[in-house]
Amino acid sequence: MITLRDITADNWLACIDLEVMPGQEHFVASNLYSLAQAGVQPECVPRAVYCDDTMIGFIMYEFDPANGDWWIFRLMIDRSYQGRGLGRATLLETIRYLRQQRPDAGVSITLHPDNEQARRLYLGVGFEETGTRVAGEDVLSLPARAAAQL
Ligand SMILES: CC(C)(COP(=O)(O)OP(=O)(O)OC[C@H]1O[C@@H](n2cnc3c(N)ncnc32)[C@H](O)[C@@H]1OP(=O)(O)O)[C@@H](O)C(=O)NCCC(=O)NCCS
Repeated sequence: MITLRDITADNWLACIDLEVMPGQEHFVASNLYSLAQAGVQPECVPRAVYCDDTMIGFIMYEFDPANGDWWIFRLMIDRSYQGRGLGRATLLETIRYLRQQRPDAGVSITLHPDNEQARRLYLGVGFEETGTRVAGEDVLSLPARAAAQL
């Protein structure tokens, strides 16, 4: 059972202790960096990912009023919990939650061009390649009508 929870005084230290696998560090900013970013950019929403009562990952998203889409720009599952379907479950739960907030919005996501693991995950959920690149990262998008079917 995956839930997204706010980062609070009680769980922020556990959040910055989460780690990716060796070799994955260049695919995602550290959680420490992301929490610092969220502290100065209030549009960024950082959430801790729990499986039952265990924190297993981190995700950060924002709503972009310019194009009316959500952007998920951080997602990581701790190295101890990868490869068990929890990344996919986290993505689906996040999309479900974001759709509740804004049913008409699509969801965009960015990834490092070499991140084949994340690409397979996103394409498998229904994201489509857009052929665009922002700040060196590929942009994939899930139109609102596709998100509604998940
Ligand atoms: C990408 C990431 C979130 C996936 O989380 P996960 O819990 O390991 O993924 P899941 O177990 O839910 O697997 C989901 C899909 O990812 C892909 N995948 C997972 N592990 C994989 C591996 N070792 N090799 C290739 N594809 C893999 C598969 O498509 C898999 O679906 P399948 O099992 O139906 O084949 C996780 O590997 C991670 O945190 N990576 C480091 C940070 C990162 O790259 N974040 C993405 C930034 S855009």
